[in-house]
Amino acid sequence: MPVTVKSEREIALMREAGRILASVHEQLGKALRPGMSTFEVDRLGEELIRGYGCVPSFKNYNGYPASICVSVNSEVVHGIPSRRRILREGDIVSLDAGVIWKGYHSDAARTHMVGKGSAEAERLIRVTRESFFVGIRQARAGNHLNDISSAIQAYAESYGYGVVRALVGHGIGSHLHEDPEIPNFSQKKKGIRLTPGMTLAVEPMINIGTWDVRWLKDGWTVVTKDGSLSAHYENTILITDGEPEILSLRKKDGDSHED
Ligand code: MF3
Ligand code: CO
Repeated sequence: MPVTVKSEREIALMREAGRILASVHEQLGKALRPGMSTFEVDRLGEELIRGYGCVPSFKNYNGYPASICVSVNSEVVHGIPSRRRILREGDIVSLDAGVIWKGYHSDAARTHMVGKGSAEAERLIRVTRESFFVGIRQARAGNHLNDISSAIQAYAESYGYGVVRALVGHGIGSHLHEDPEIPNFSQKKKGIRLTPGMTLAVEPMINIGTWDVRWLKDGWTVVTKDGSLSAHYENTILITDGEPEILSLRKKDGDSHED
């Protein structure tokens, strides 16, 4: 499928989808506490999404059974919410969510500390988030896709972390997953040329240990092979004539985080 350039009308709808998702994430982050089950996180997330008049895009996507992917500690992505999985003080939890507003998607992920945790885990969360911002600094018209990928990899690896290879970011629009694929590690080819109007979901997944992952028997949950902690940070962005616009982040949240 070709990479599409969105019209002003489509961009306006994606801005709204992104704004709503930013707000959902903010509320989910504030609600997290020790003793909460991952099922409750999903239920709250779905309620919030539907409360904004949106549809949770993950629900039933390829059979995924929930609205929010809730991935704890060594779970990288696509953790399935469960009544039996109780969050504990010091856990790190990655929340990944997508919403559809009038036919247009946004997709974003955040990793949170539950209560107070180790400095090591805090650093992983911070560096993963920073790697996104370092990556999208390259997300300018005229640059190529691999400029984003290689910047993310170089930054994360400078901390000795492993960059997950089995999963990648993606174009986004009237579908959750559109071309191009956006790896978080350098490719041999420089990839497509970035053009204003392209909308992309950039989503580094970073492990304290090695990059290797495996799938649990539930067919969804991806975990680190070495059992090390993993973090995920994602936003839907728009390529413009200048700086990329981060659609799924409230303006002030991005301000202080240019590494
Ligand atoms: N958020 C994931 C992504 O970024 C998609 C989740 S797929 C689901 O591509 F099936 F788990 F919903
Ligand atoms: Co995504």
